[in-house]
Amino acid sequence: MIKMADKIRNIGSWLWLDLEETQSTNDAVDRWCQECGQPCVVTAKRQTAGRGRRGRSWISQEGNLFMSFAFPASLECIGQIAVLSGLIVLRTVRSFCSEAGLKVKWPNDVLADGGKISGILFERAANGFWIMGIGINVVSNPLKSAAGYQTMSINALGVCADRLEVFNRFVAKWDDAFKIYQANGFDTIKKQWLDNAYNLGKTIVVRQGNAEICGIFAGLDDDGALLLDTDGKVKKILAGDVMLNNN
Ligand code: BTN
Repeated sequence: MIKMADKIRNIGSWLWLDLEETQSTNDAVDRWCQECGQPCVVTAKRQTAGRGRRGRSWISQEGNLFMSFAFPASLECIGQIAVLSGLIVLRTVRSFCSEAGLKVKWPNDVLADGGKISGILFERAANGFWIMGIGINVVSNPLKSAAGYQTMSINALGVCADRLEVFNRFVAKWDDAFKIYQANGFDTIKKQWLDNAYNLGKTIVVRQGNAEICGIFAGLDDDGALLLDTDGKVKKILAGDVMLNNN
């Protein structure tokens, strides 16, 4: 429930609420979008129970960016939008540190110099909207992520930035890119994503629950799925975790 003390603002095409503390911004925006019925975004200074993909936690160190957007979108588009989200985080981080070796790891992790700097969790809101929850390590990073990955932050790349500067840049880039996506479709996004992809054309391991599939990362399908070449047979992967080499 939104309290009087919470100050609702506008940012780009969104209603925006910046909370002092919440358990998970994904949950907060889920509740709020049911009340306001419009595209909206919640950020928080402190997140006490941040969630990651596959039931993992998201280690939420104060000063980092936790933001969750709720918006209407069709199920058919969500794989493409998930791919777009990683690309826009990459562009946002690149605008602060152009020198860092930035990569997108399918579907939408962003890596900087081999460490995870951002993760994204898509969930369905109770009113049918989609929630895009993004964590970006701005001022600090945990030693390892909940999945055991090496991590990175914008500060560790040698750039002083604060969470709201990063948030502002992300929203501006997202709004522009989303308009272009709606007008022109997925082809250019797919190409730009692949230009920055981690381990494209190389052997990768995809974890799905307890199972692992190994193959050559052959590209993306038109719906955002990963294409994996296993002994000459191309498999379409809709969900899973691409393992990091240094893990
Ligand atoms: C992952 O890489 O596993 C996804 C991490 C997503 C973390 C963000 S932080 C903001 C939003 N609130 C959450 O509880 N999770 C997402």
